[in-house]
Amino acid sequence: PQVCWLSPEQTAGKQKPYMYTQGQAVLNRSFFPCFDTPSVKFTYSATVKVPEGFTAVMSATSWEKQKDNTFVFKMSQPIPSYLIALVVGDIVSADVGPRSRVWAEPCLIEAAKKEYDGVIEEFLVVGEKLFGPYVWGRYDILFMPPSFPFGGMENPCLTFVTPCLLAGDRSLVDVIIHEISHSWFGNLVTNATWGEFWLNEGFTMYAQRRISTEVYGLPYTCLEAATGRALLRQHMDATGEDHPLNKLRVVIEPGVNPDDTYNETPYEKGYCFVSYLAHLVGNQSKFDAFLQAYVNRFKFQSITADDTLEFFLEYFPELKEKGVDSIPGFEFDRWLNMPGWPPYLPDLSPGQQLMRPAEELAELWAADSLNMEAIEAVDIMGWRTYQLVYFLDQVLKKSPLPEGNVKRLSKMYPKISKAQNAELRLRWCQIVLKNNLEAEYSKVKDFLHSQGKQKYTLPLYRAMWGGSEAARALAMETFSATAPQLHVNVQNYVKKILGLAAAE
Ligand code: BES
Ligand code: ZN
Repeated sequence: PQVCWLSPEQTAGKQKPYMYTQGQAVLNRSFFPCFDTPSVKFTYSATVKVPEGFTAVMSATSWEKQKDNTFVFKMSQPIPSYLIALVVGDIVSADVGPRSRVWAEPCLIEAAKKEYDGVIEEFLVVGEKLFGPYVWGRYDILFMPPSFPFGGMENPCLTFVTPCLLAGDRSLVDVIIHEISHSWFGNLVTNATWGEFWLNEGFTMYAQRRISTEVYGLPYTCLEAATGRALLRQHMDATGEDHPLNKLRVVIEPGVNPDDTYNETPYEKGYCFVSYLAHLVGNQSKFDAFLQAYVNRFKFQSITADDTLEFFLEYFPELKEKGVDSIPGFEFDRWLNMPGWPPYLPDLSPGQQLMRPAEELAELWAADSLNMEAIEAVDIMGWRTYQLVYFLDQVLKKSPLPEGNVKRLSKMYPKISKAQNAELRLRWCQIVLKNNLEAEYSKVKDFLHSQGKQKYTLPLYRAMWGGSEAARALAMETFSATAPQLHVNVQNYVKKILGLAAAE
């Protein structure tokens, strides 16, 4: 399942075939022989011969093109198996910073360069200031074909991203900041087991929002964090708070694929726990210094949460003395081993100036008889993408809205209902389905045909399958048309949702 072979039709350019690998969590064992666990780190080198007219790239610190279309790669830092990745395709590159370039198919390279020219270096510099040296040499970004199942994948030296990030306005740059943050959390300090995935993702969410705060300010970062919290809320509502996967430390029994445990908890509950640790310290620069010391202490190692928390208490002996690990209701043990909503939530009120107008507008649209005067007085044209996302999440939460309201909303805001931005399209499709707006089912279909990101695909199939007969028919029709384009993991998850037997 590991090596994805795409036909020309499955690429953006539709001219030449493409192949890529996705290692995380445990797919690389079918790519090359390895200890396929994040607890083992090693360097690697690879020699890859490709047909004429193709380029190979890997997650490596150096590469060289030799004669005969042969590429030689070396990764000189020890990494876990899941971070080895290879792409072969008709791809070209363009510089976007002193140590960064974008890679993409020729038809996307202009858009890719425009999206990120001159912005990557600032994120790296802020990351280095906060967390210590960037040890990987280059930081390049590869825009993948539309079926790539993730928003981003932090392959060292060469992050892989979905082409959905090409929004034209840099509005989805938080994904890049996230993957850059893995350069310290995940790629340098690595979770020793997939059961403690929050050590990778929770720390990375925290680091991402630290960098975002430095670059874009606190209000905007709190707004983005609020959309993350909404995702956690949706996830816990769907599974029940007590679900065993809603713990930070997950028990993964032998034979269970760690990918099957993937959900929002390690990201957003993990973020809350790291924020709680910062709250205990009570001083941002002291906590930043701790994070830097933590990276320095455990770099190139694989660790458990016990290592992290022991180091935290050693680093802050006054907190250890106070017994902060056992404050009733906030015990570290509870954070790790109890499912449920986070006992501590970081204060996102600095984002209120951006969130409140969106909340108020959603309120207006949920009313039985619409107050059009009040609605028309709100000008959303100047809103940032994440404000619109936040607004749509509120509308979704209140859905189904009274009969006719969504139709009107759609007409009033083509900026939303005809959006090209993937985060807006996802929410709009969810609203269409929750309100059973059959007139706009084609948008769901078009969106699912246009890309194959897991976090967009699965919620929409769940919504269709939980909806009307017509929605179920839409699900079946869309899946039979798009299944061959989807990553095999995503295909199997959709099959499960639709009650079709998952292929072994
Ligand atoms: N490492 C993950 C992607 C991943 C997780 C792949 C588990 C396979 C198994 C990556 O860093 C990630 O979290 N991507 C997010 C970005 C978002 C949180 C900004 C995504 O793809 O949505
Ligand atoms: Zn991540």
